[in-house]
Amino acid sequence: MKVDLLTIFPEFFSGPLDSSILKRAIQSEKVRINLVNIRDFARDKHKTTDDVPFGGGGGMVMMIEPLYHALESVVEKKQEKIIMTSAWGRRFSQDMAKELSTLKHLVLICGHYKGVDQRIKELFPMEEVSIGDYVLSGGEFASLVMLDAVVRLIPGVLGNFESAVTDSFYEGILGYPQYTRPAEFMGLKVPEVLLSGDHQKVRLWRKKQALKMTFITRPDLLEQKELSEEDRKLLKEI
Ligand code: ADE
Repeated sequence: MKVDLLTIFPEFFSGPLDSSILKRAIQSEKVRINLVNIRDFARDKHKTTDDVPFGGGGGMVMMIEPLYHALESVVEKKQEKIIMTSAWGRRFSQDMAKELSTLKHLVLICGHYKGVDQRIKELFPMEEVSIGDYVLSGGEFASLVMLDAVVRLIPGVLGNFESAVTDSFYEGILGYPQYTRPAEFMGLKVPEVLLSGDHQKVRLWRKKQALKMTFITRPDLLEQKELSEEDRKLLKEI
């Protein structure tokens, strides 16, 4: 997958792109990230990318011109998926991450200031995406969150794909509790079933725990999920 990442703070990404899963994905060429500095497309000598809003009011608005030219430099066919981070966009989700992980080319714009000149959306069709109901100081934080969630789902990026399949949200519910050695610590024992070696029992126990955690902390997820017979039976027991 190729990702064009448009930002006015390219340096923001140097640490995160050089660590952990993102670093490995880049090194193994599963993903190629092209950082585009929107400032490079500003025409004035001060490299201005923002201005005061027409109609007054506080804050600054990202100007259309530098962003237009930055987009023009990476978008060839206008069929590319373009996403712009925005506090009032569609809510990012695991389903969206799965969908995006299948793309060959993604253009991600880090929105800024009080917003972006609205006309850019007429010139380049794009989707605005929010990572949650809170306001960040810049779209770079949101882009990084999305990038990480998407890239780890690209086949071959995680050493063991199993670990994405058993993630929280993968099946629309939260994950199950995990334990590792030692089997006992300060009198606290690992649940017996996990030591039993009975895979079917372990699977059912984990599913029940996942349903229970979801029921307690995120009942909204259960309302959206298509429940199997087995799910229903386990939920009744809970
Ligand atoms: N920019 C500011 N806040 C944001 C949010 N919650 N999600 C995406 N982009 C943002």
